[in-house]
Amino acid sequence: MRILASLLLLLTGAACLAREPVRTRHAMVVAQEPVAAGVGVTVLKNGGNAVDAAVAVAFALAVTHPEAGNIGGGGFALVRTPDGVARFFDFRERAPRSAGRNMYLDASGKATADSVVGWRAAGTPGTVAGLEHIHRIYGRKPWAELVAPAIRLAAQGVELSYSEATAMKQGARLMERFPESKRIFLKGGEFFEPGEVLVQPELAETLKRTAQDAADFYRGETARRLAEASRANGGEITLEDLRDYKVVERKPLEGGYKGYHIVTAPPPSSGGVAMLEMLAMLEGSGYEKAGAGSAAASHYLAEVMRRAYADRAAYLGDTDFVKVPVTGLVNPKYAATLRASIDPEKATPSDSLGAGQPVPYESAETTHFNVIDSDGTAVALTYTINAWWGNGVTVPGLGFLLNNEMDDFAAKPGEPNAFGLVQGEANAIQPFKRPLSSMTPTMVLRDGKLFMVLGAPGGARIITGVMQVLLNVVDFGMSVQEAVDQPRLHHQWKPDKLYLEKGFSPDTKALLEKRGHVLEEADTVARTEAILIGEGWLQGAQNGRSTGKVAGY
Ligand code: DON
Repeated sequence: MRILASLLLLLTGAACLAREPVRTRHAMVVAQEPVAAGVGVTVLKNGGNAVDAAVAVAFALAVTHPEAGNIGGGGFALVRTPDGVARFFDFRERAPRSAGRNMYLDASGKATADSVVGWRAAGTPGTVAGLEHIHRIYGRKPWAELVAPAIRLAAQGVELSYSEATAMKQGARLMERFPESKRIFLKGGEFFEPGEVLVQPELAETLKRTAQDAADFYRGETARRLAEASRANGGEITLEDLRDYKVVERKPLEGGYKGYHIVTAPPPSSGGVAMLEMLAMLEGSGYEKAGAGSAAASHYLAEVMRRAYADRAAYLGDTDFVKVPVTGLVNPKYAATLRASIDPEKATPSDSLGAGQPVPYESAETTHFNVIDSDGTAVALTYTINAWWGNGVTVPGLGFLLNNEMDDFAAKPGEPNAFGLVQGEANAIQPFKRPLSSMTPTMVLRDGKLFMVLGAPGGARIITGVMQVLLNVVDFGMSVQEAVDQPRLHHQWKPDKLYLEKGFSPDTKALLEKRGHVLEEADTVARTEAILIGEGWLQGAQNGRSTGKVAGY
């Protein structure tokens, strides 16, 4: 019957609302800003591999998309080579030596805004070290050649798109508090308009030194000036913190869903653990029978999310510092116990639902972009300064913004952070610890072959955003473009709200409310970037939620 219907549709040539993915044969970059995506494709066309391109894109984004692209932040990269070996690189910021559990509490024990705004909110940046590290392992092109496009863009200037100019205006309240940010990104308070050119000479100089030697950022002039400015402004980062920063290679987290193999982010990201836990709850539940976007399927997804995020709050943190019951959390038998508590007709109030008990199921062991090159090496890289425009501070004379990643810790365990996330003891602040992340660079394999590469920005919504794109392909048979376009939902246990993107019908919303959900409209649930490999094509999804680009050849 379904086949007949689609045949009829083809024969009558009826218009189809679904957008086509962008298809290329050899190589592809999907990034959130078009100029940077173009930089990556040029590297690929000139004989660079996927890691070379990723390094060049990351530096370019630090110039063209400074609200998130960065050298003052950190991130994760998942790299898979055609021999099937996947490696995960953690260049997340870490807490400075001086950090302590109560560093953001005032005299009365209340959490202050210091973990979000200003110098003290910054963790020791890892981006330059991370990019240098993956380049040292995989790079084919000289390092300096990959930093060069970013230097040129910073020195000669970039024409600001509508979305970049708007992002600056949106960041005004934060950045006008810091003179160097106000001067560079807010034109001294006048604001840039679309079409105007942003020139960043100080950043160009910093990048030039980085191109000569990446160690400059950690031990050279950049390090000295950053540490000095930090000290002068009451920040925490010292020269020692910079000198001692380390990239950590971790074993990617692996799991399965309906015969697909998933390779994803381990702690200190909560992303992979929570996604595999949710998929384990979904597998065999039959939730998909109700249909994509239906009230019944949406309700079920929300309940699964609620349970995984309750566990996230209780158990997740940096595994170098705390024990996280990873294998228990993603164990199918544990998932079955959680699934049994889901009522298909009624929302479970978050207050009545604590974290589950994964420990008995524990065994003894314990601005995203994607690049694929013509050899089949793939990179999924998510990096961040946390909030847009980070902590608001541009380091004087160095031209780059600092992160406010310290807010990803639980400044006060049990109280919400900037994303409204409630987090627990496992994510309390300690010197050198990495704050818990939601970043989820992910690859999906089918029959041992690379099938999808995906990831997203979006704070706590990254995990649910990435998972839903995957489910839309696997469970609902959508193309990668349809999967990205489909409206998404998000639940994170607390606050007890179901966030819906625009596009859910009033009928569906009414049915969800009837089941007891408190609905709230979300501007986006993660601007997920995805490539699917199928039918001899690299198929890239243009994300309508941002002005990014699929580019390739
Ligand atoms: O690591 C994390 O989970 C967050 N710092 C990511 C921040 C983010 O995606 C901001 N985007 N909207």
